[in-house]
Amino acid sequence: VEETYIMIKPDGVQRGLVGEIISIFEKKGFKLTGLKLFQCPKELAEEHYKDLQSKSFFPKLIDYITSGPVVCMAWEGIGVVASARKLIGATNPLNAEPGTIRGDLAVQTGRNVVHGSDSPENGKREIDDNTALRLHFGVITPSVEIVIGWLYLDAFSIQE
Ligand code: GTP
Ligand code: MG
Repeated sequence: VEETYIMIKPDGVQRGLVGEIISIFEKKGFKLTGLKLFQCPKELAEEHYKDLQSKSFFPKLIDYITSGPVVCMAWEGIGVVASARKLIGATNPLNAEPGTIRGDLAVQTGRNVVHGSDSPENGKREIDDNTALRLHFGVITPSVEIVIGWLYLDAFSIQE
């Protein structure tokens, strides 16, 4: 199943937009499979955005991402990577269409509320890089595990 890493950036958390953003992905029909509130260490922020290392705004970007807690999430579903990027909108919120998260809720590229993976490969990698994002049912009893598994199957069995 395709999965993507969605991170609500510090401005989104501070402005109280967590519920609203989660709701957008839930209502679209994607499945939340991991979530944590997290203070991102500098080293992990630098690793996450390593492709942008040479950019002049890189130090500002790292300061921004580490300026407060972020909400890290794993979402799965058909076409979730591209669809999430559409729901999020263009990098510069002033270019993002109304109806998108950045289009409706932000004005600055350096305060653009949310991150979404840009490819299925990066989605898997970014989720793997954030320990604790994968559900580990092993800690609860097998019978409860089966019930949870059955409920999930029931709710998400019709995907097309
Ligand atoms: P992400 O989902 O966060 O990866 O954004 P993106 O894929 O739409 O854009 P990109 O990966 O190119 O850039 C990553 C992040 O760096 C952006 O979301 C911005 O927060 C930040 N960024 C990009 N360009 C600029 C810039 O010109 N100035 C500043 N201050 N920040 C920038
Ligand atoms: Mg990006």
